[in-house]
Amino acid sequence: MNDPNGMIFWRGRFHLFYQYNPNGAFHGTIHWGHAVSEDLLTWRHLPVALAPTPDSPDEDGCYSGCAFVDDDGTPSVMYTGVRGDEHLPCLARTTDPELLTTWEKYPGNPVIDAPPDGIEVLGFRDHCLWKSGESWYQVIGSGIAGKGGTALLYRSRNLTDPTDWEYLNPLHTGGEADGIWSGTVWECPDFFALGDAHVLVVSVWHDEGLHYSTFFVGDFDGRVFTPTSQGMMDFGSVFYAPQSLTDGDGRRVLIGWLRDGRDDSVARESGWSGAMSLPRLFSLKDGRLHIEPVPEVKNLRGERTTVEARRITPEEPATVEGDFGDALEVSLEFEPAGESPLLVGLRHASGETTNVICDPTSGIVSIGDSDTGDFSAASNAERVSEKESVKLRVFFDVSVVEAYFGDASCTSGCVYPENPAVIAVSVSPVSASPVADSRVSGDTRIVSGAVWRLAGVEFIRGLV
Ligand code: FRU
Repeated sequence: MNDPNGMIFWRGRFHLFYQYNPNGAFHGTIHWGHAVSEDLLTWRHLPVALAPTPDSPDEDGCYSGCAFVDDDGTPSVMYTGVRGDEHLPCLARTTDPELLTTWEKYPGNPVIDAPPDGIEVLGFRDHCLWKSGESWYQVIGSGIAGKGGTALLYRSRNLTDPTDWEYLNPLHTGGEADGIWSGTVWECPDFFALGDAHVLVVSVWHDEGLHYSTFFVGDFDGRVFTPTSQGMMDFGSVFYAPQSLTDGDGRRVLIGWLRDGRDDSVARESGWSGAMSLPRLFSLKDGRLHIEPVPEVKNLRGERTTVEARRITPEEPATVEGDFGDALEVSLEFEPAGESPLLVGLRHASGETTNVICDPTSGIVSIGDSDTGDFSAASNAERVSEKESVKLRVFFDVSVVEAYFGDASCTSGCVYPENPAVIAVSVSPVSASPVADSRVSGDTRIVSGAVWRLAGVEFIRGLV
C-alpha cells in the first residue's frame, strides 16, 4: 500500500481508502483499497473500491484523491486517472451509500482535460476538494518550473457538470522564502480550516525522490493562502502523503503512509510493503499546531509496568525487563539534563536493539540510524530544555516505531528486527555531542514512566 485516499467519516464510520496494487508488494496497477473502522483501532477490510478501466482515462491506474459529499448528499471521490504519461482528475460516485463499497465512474471523465495553459507544470496529480458558498473548489498537487512545489486552485459552480472546472491561481507556491525546503513538486495537498486559521499539508517530491511532508498554517482569503508558519509533519524518513478528515465530533484526524524501509526485492518476496501511521489528532492552540495520537489509542493498553521516578545516568539507566510482546507503548515524563538527549532502547528477543533518541534542544526525535536530516531551523517544538519536564510517547508495533515528543513533534521509522518481541526497555541520557565530550551535563530525571503492552490493531476481512 501507499497513500491514504478518500478519507471520510460517513454514517458513524471512518473510511480509509488507499493506493493498492493487488498484483504484489510493489508500486504498479494502482487500485483503491478500502478499510473501514468505527473506533480508529479495529479495521475491516472491504473489497477494492476503484480499479483501472481499460480504454479509459484511468486505464493505467487510479492514483490519489479525496472523498466528499456531493450536492445530492452522495459520497463521491475525485482521484487522479492515469493513462500513459497523462495524469487527469476523474470523478466517481458511490452506488452503496451505506458502506461505500461500489462506485460508478463519471462517463465524462476526466473532468479537467489538461493542466492550465501558460504555466510550465512539473506534475499534476492528487486532489483536495471542498464547497464554499455556491462553488466547489479543489486544489491539485503540482510544481511550477523554476519556482517550486505548488497547489493549483480550481473552482466549479456545478460539480455535476464537471467540465465547468475553471483554473483560478496557485493557492500557494513554495520557494526560497519558506523555512523548510519544499522541492519541485507538491504531492497530495490537503487543505482545511482549523480554528480560525487554515492549514495546508503537502508532500515534497524532488528529482524522482519522495522526501517528507510539511505543513503551513496561515490565512486564506478565498483565493490565496498566505502562510504565517511552517513545520514538519514528521521528522522521520518514512512518513509521507498524509490525508485527514473531520469526524462526528469535529476533530481533525490525519493518517500518513509509512513507507517500507526494505529493498524492493525483499518487500516483494515478503508479500507486503508499507503501512499506515497511527491516527493523529490535529489541533491549534495559541496559533501553534499540535499533533498527538488520537486518545482512542489508549484503549489498546494492556498490562502496565512502571518505570520508577528517579535520576538516571548513562551508567545507571532505568531498565525494565519483561515480556512486552511485539506491540508496546513507552510513556515517559522527564526533566532533561541541559542539552543531553534521552535514549530509549528497546531490546528485542533476537538481541537487536531499536534506539529512539530524543533531543530536548531541537525538540526532534530520531529513530535507530534513520536520517532525520537537518531540520533544526524549523523545529516544530519549542526549545524544551529550560522547561520543567517534557513528555515522550514511543509506540512500537512489529516493524513500526512512532515517537511523539512534546505536543508538536513526531517521528516515525521502520525497523525489521528478526524477532521483534521486546524483552527490555532502558532509558538513559546520552552525551549531546558524540565526538567532543562524553560527559552528560546536569541531571536527567524521570518524573513518571510506564511500559504498556498493547493489544494488536485488529483486522477483519469481509463485509459488515
Ligand atoms: C504519492 C504519490 C501520489 C500519487 C500516488 C501514486 O506517494 O506519488 O502523487 O497519486 O502516490 O500511487
